[in-house]
Amino acid sequence: MRPIQLFDPDSSTYTYVLFDVDTRDALIIDPVDEQLDRDLAVLKEYGLRLVWAVETHAHADHITSAGKLAEHAGARTAAPAACGITTASRQLHDGDELVFGGQKIRALATPGHTAGSMCFTWEADGQRHVFTGDTLLINGCGRTDFQSGSPEAMYHSLTEVLFKLPDDTIVWPGHDYQGRTHSTIGHEKRHNARVAGKTLDEFVALMNSLNLPKPKRIDEAVPANLTSGL
Ligand code: FE2
Repeated sequence: MRPIQLFDPDSSTYTYVLFDVDTRDALIIDPVDEQLDRDLAVLKEYGLRLVWAVETHAHADHITSAGKLAEHAGARTAAPAACGITTASRQLHDGDELVFGGQKIRALATPGHTAGSMCFTWEADGQRHVFTGDTLLINGCGRTDFQSGSPEAMYHSLTEVLFKLPDDTIVWPGHDYQGRTHSTIGHEKRHNARVAGKTLDEFVALMNSLNLPKPKRIDEAVPANLTSGL
């Protein structure tokens, strides 16, 4: 069993729908406001009942539809406690689990991109998955230069938390800008250009030299996402 991977082309965001094949209870990770109708159609097409709408962090590049999904589909919202998303009905701490039918995901605190950022692990049919938000990207990682980001915390989250997962864990990132859909922990540990083989000092120097432009929608998106997009 695999997650349903959905893509928002404007923000290059991946949204994931996970479900229990028997009970049809479902959970969505990082839903995008503009894709609300698509996501509701996917739930209907698969015959799913949405139980949870979950955030990996308070996004700067798009607005979440979690609040609207709660209204339209009856889901409860969940978000990392340290993100300050006050409207989320479940405030997640490291190790917390969210249950949907006979399935569950587990929260991993992975600060760095933002201080509250989390990843979520899911084990289904003996295969382990990790949804990495903007912490670990394929051959990259989330930026650490705003929104309470920290390259030192990111290095720790990548090397001491995510890279300690089994090598065959499938990595499902929060974004990809080149059409890649997934990777594995083993591959990223060995080949990720940002972090593989780098010391903490080398990684911090690299992250501090990126000089990335400010995200177009940050001034609008962050405040909206602190109230689940409502
Ligand atoms: Fe982000």
